[in-house]
Amino acid sequence: MIYLDNAATSWPKPEKVYQKMDQFFRKYGANPGRAGHKMAAYAGREIFEVREKLAEFFGAKDSSEIIFTSNATHSLNLGIRGVVEKGDHVITSCLEHNSVIRPLKELERNGIIELSIIGLTESGDLDFDSLKKAIKENTKLIVMTHGSNVTGHIFDIGKIAKLAKEKGVLVMIDAAQTAGILPINLQELPIDMMAFPGHKSLYGPPGTGGLYIRKGIKINPIFAGGTGSKSEELYQPEVWPDKFESGTLNSVGIVGLGAGLDFIKKEGLEQIWEHEYYLTQKFMEGLLSIDKVKVYGPELGKIRTPVVSFNIGEESSSEVGYILDQVFDIAVRSGLHCSPLAHQTIGTFEQGTVRVSFGYFNNIKDVEETLKAIEEIAKEV
Ligand SMILES: Cc1ncc(COP(=O)(O)O)c(C=O)c1O
Repeated sequence: MIYLDNAATSWPKPEKVYQKMDQFFRKYGANPGRAGHKMAAYAGREIFEVREKLAEFFGAKDSSEIIFTSNATHSLNLGIRGVVEKGDHVITSCLEHNSVIRPLKELERNGIIELSIIGLTESGDLDFDSLKKAIKENTKLIVMTHGSNVTGHIFDIGKIAKLAKEKGVLVMIDAAQTAGILPINLQELPIDMMAFPGHKSLYGPPGTGGLYIRKGIKINPIFAGGTGSKSEELYQPEVWPDKFESGTLNSVGIVGLGAGLDFIKKEGLEQIWEHEYYLTQKFMEGLLSIDKVKVYGPELGKIRTPVVSFNIGEESSSEVGYILDQVFDIAVRSGLHCSPLAHQTIGTFEQGTVRVSFGYFNNIKDVEETLKAIEEIAKEV
């Protein structure tokens, strides 16, 4: 099997991730922070260490600014719902995932917020002038993806964050497709919140994710409940990160994520980026030479995430995905990838696209075999 669906979740995970989770779960599977016994204390310490590792990895000032969640969707919902109030205006882009669009559209339909969606320029970049013009008196939040999960476009988050700061607007970045691929330094970028999954390019297991929240931001939790701290209080404690982490944490997943971060540190982010970019470019080069194939997103040679969307003639993307899986044993994703607006933007709302997404464990042979399979399919349709 060739696995090319790393944008959904990375697979396989580094061996150390499996080992760490197995060892931890067998020995220290107690509820962290909920009791004074040794097992719970050990589990709590391990979780603290992963929080510290994440803070260091992203350049957060304080590890209490890192909130553990169950995925990027959870983080984005916390960031959006936690800060907006009735009458606020929110700005987003036309390339967002449903985990951004759906909470925003629901808030808009319920009359809580006004929403502006910014399009792309002819060259496919974010229409920055429109973004600038869209900011008004009641704009509270700009929420935008760092990298598109459909086209591979990368937005200039530094420029977006700088503009937001100048205008006194909060900015949240969806780093679902870039955390663990592109360097992100929160000391250098005036970003207020950043959602990231643990299970994609940070190599943690499914069920892990996080939200960075800059200290000082006025934000409410979306859940209230047991935090293991201030148990005598009937109201949610104000202390971070507890304020946002009610309920038992996914301790086994979080320690797996910690091992994933160790792996990235060992291999080097630059090496990971170079490898995935190389495979992506080789794949695009091959795709562009196949008759009937149309490739979307940034041109060959341009910077992009390791995601390539394509179609073969008018053939349904689901059919192509099905053939790749059933006949060639190649796992890709087809359809709308939970991003209908992105497909409206690139004109593939009806057909969807076939999406190949590379990970660090793919190699050039995977690229060659996949290209061969696509060539064969293209001959038949
Ligand atoms: C750009 C983007 N944002 C958000 C998400 C949601 O991530 P999760 O599956 O961790 O909730 C995804 C998932 O693919 C994504 O690609």
